[in-house]
Amino acid sequence: MTKVLVATTKPFAKVAVDGIRKVIEGAGYELVLLEKYTEKSALLEAVADVDAIIIRSDIVDAEVLDAAKKLKIVVRAGAGYDNVDLESATAHGVCVMNTPGQNANAVAELVIGMMVYAVRNFYNGTSGSELMGKKLGIHAFGNVGRNVARIAKGFGMDVYAYDAYCPKEAIEAAGVKACDSVEEMYKTCQVISLHMPATDETKKSINAAVVDLMPKGALLVNSARKEIIDEDQLIELMQRREDLKFITDIQPAANEKFIQLFPDRFFSTPKKMGAQTAEANINAGIAAANQIAGFFKDGCTKFQVNR
Ligand code: 3PG
Repeated sequence: MTKVLVATTKPFAKVAVDGIRKVIEGAGYELVLLEKYTEKSALLEAVADVDAIIIRSDIVDAEVLDAAKKLKIVVRAGAGYDNVDLESATAHGVCVMNTPGQNANAVAELVIGMMVYAVRNFYNGTSGSELMGKKLGIHAFGNVGRNVARIAKGFGMDVYAYDAYCPKEAIEAAGVKACDSVEEMYKTCQVISLHMPATDETKKSINAAVVDLMPKGALLVNSARKEIIDEDQLIELMQRREDLKFITDIQPAANEKFIQLFPDRFFSTPKKMGAQTAEANINAGIAAANQIAGFFKDGCTKFQVNR
């Protein structure tokens, strides 16, 4: 019988697991759960006899792929797949997919919530400011960026975006002002929200030179990946610019240093939680289960990312 493993160090809500089970068992497969594991050895053991795996930010590297002798497909229930070794998966003949857009609203709502928290001085009771009328720059206009734009407009923010891979017309069709360059957007916007994946091109691309272009009272928000920020340069810049705040849902490598140096201008969620809602878990988890059923039954490879 086809065996599907759900391996999540950060588990889905129970209601989402119930939904995944319904799809997997409904297709005639067996569902195996490995939740909250802390050791890689547990994952290596669990993958030994499975045909498919559903993961979140769980690491699927060459060692995991070597251990998964029957594996045919890995679905990352979420957007970013930098946690999967795509080259090794391809070499092992394993199809890798993601579930784009399924958790985007959850991340976007957290971004806006964190923005309010920051402009209200982390709820310390002192007089803060409002989002209405502020210029927001969305760096990368994918599913999360689009949702942030939609909600921010409801707050009365003036929304801009820059995306090297998205035509300006598509940005403008969403009612957002398209910038011609990264520099133009950072010069224009008091608030910047980061939404690009971690790639060779984007790693450390958010550096002091770029962030320093932002006007006085700048707020940088990261709900994407920590690797895209040059942390040493950002620390140096925040020491130089006392008006700059940085809030993030991705704990920086230098988290303790940020907390210690900037207690009033830095905030990080204790654990990445942008996509951690029942709704997002249901959407992404069930989409992953359906994609696996479609792959085995119809050979459907829509959403494959390692072609
Ligand atoms: C994603 O890439 O989909 C988000 O970063 C969410 O990741 P998570 O599933 O680990 O919460």
